[in-house]
Amino acid sequence: MLKRCLLVEVLLTGSLFLMAPELMFSQPQEQWRVNGSRLNDHLQTLHRLVSKASGKASRVAFSDADRTGRSYVINLMRAASLETKIDHAGNIMGRREGRASGSAPLMLGSHLDSVPDGGLYDGPLGVMAAIEVAQTLNEHNYVTSHPLEIVVFQNEEGGKTGSRLLSGEVMDKEFDLITSSGKTIRDGIRSIGGDPDRLEQIRRRPGEIAAYLELHIEQGAVLDSKDISIGVVEGIVGIKRWNVSIEGFANHAGTTPMNKRQDALLAAARFIEAVNKIVTETPGRQVGTVGQIQALPGAPNVIPGKVNLSLELRDLDMGKIDDLYQHIASAGQNIAQGTGTSINFEHFYTSRAALTHTRIRQLISEAAVGLGLSAMQMPSGAGHDAQSIARLAPIGMIFIPSVDGISHSPKEFSRPQDIADGANVLLQTTLTVDAALEHLSSRK
Ligand code: GLV
Ligand code: MN
Ligand code: MN
Repeated sequence: MLKRCLLVEVLLTGSLFLMAPELMFSQPQEQWRVNGSRLNDHLQTLHRLVSKASGKASRVAFSDADRTGRSYVINLMRAASLETKIDHAGNIMGRREGRASGSAPLMLGSHLDSVPDGGLYDGPLGVMAAIEVAQTLNEHNYVTSHPLEIVVFQNEEGGKTGSRLLSGEVMDKEFDLITSSGKTIRDGIRSIGGDPDRLEQIRRRPGEIAAYLELHIEQGAVLDSKDISIGVVEGIVGIKRWNVSIEGFANHAGTTPMNKRQDALLAAARFIEAVNKIVTETPGRQVGTVGQIQALPGAPNVIPGKVNLSLELRDLDMGKIDDLYQHIASAGQNIAQGTGTSINFEHFYTSRAALTHTRIRQLISEAAVGLGLSAMQMPSGAGHDAQSIARLAPIGMIFIPSVDGISHSPKEFSRPQDIADGANVLLQTTLTVDAALEHLSSRK
């Protein structure tokens, strides 16, 4: 089998990767392993380069730190013989040809950008591990049946823009949103080599991606507290976001009596409390967050006349999100009435909940067993690019432990051994999914 693949590889590409002779004819695929220390070195080098350039680990989308990370990863992709380009969305795509010419690619990927003051592992783990899988296949001189497409999706943290542009979910008004870098999404796309006027050309249709796999840190404490190596993700929460504006009346803080005020910030405080109460008191695992707030004009001696804040709701059931929103919106109207203010909600973002494919879940679990690793099935409370791609193709996600469940923080940490283990599960699942793809039913 291996000999045949080697011959096909030479015929197809006219090239032969250098491979240690003992690897050539002896090792069965189940025994192939990534180079864990090389993978960990790549992650640490990313950290060093980014923090040298910006003084921090974080890589907010479209910032200088993001661009530093992206250039490093483009070099790594090229070193792994991937045919690398930036698409019109600004996603980095590295392609490795497959045996069956013209067949849809098996996509592996994640993101490089981070939240402001974020950590090293959320995103880069999946990108570096996917490149490591390609490099390991090169060293075994093995050509998968399907082409592999290794993707760095842009601006995951600011709204999964890169992956949602592939699935066609981005709303027009999103392009004018100001991201954490200070640039609009439109200008951000330009700043990383994309072209916001040609996005229709990169849109994929269902069937054009054979399957998608993503390795990621868990970002919670379930695996770490149970001492389990691998999480097999069952589904990813849906997310909806609104801009909420509360209009009061800005007036003198010294001369306006307490009973004559229309204080927008007081209404906002009551609203935030109401969001927490409604979400907490509804049975289930949903979460709701007010994560941003701005009071205007913003001076100690002026009663706030206007407040802008964000509302985010998450659940595996999109219907539940809508029900919660109805409750919150009507609580908001009551609060506005009681404070002499008005409240307005503008919905600006949806990321649909997605289930992973049952057969891929099974193949991930089998890969973990084959590697002697403990594994459990679990939902994901964090959003991921995988859920955008779920609109187009069957998806699978692999989690590794986050120490103490810390994420979206510079203290985020995953152990080098867990990183190598997760990448080996990704490698083995890539091989088995590639072989099983013809038999995967479309969405289950
Ligand atoms: C991404 O990390 C998210 O869940 O918002
Ligand atoms: Mn992430
Ligand atoms: Mn994140």
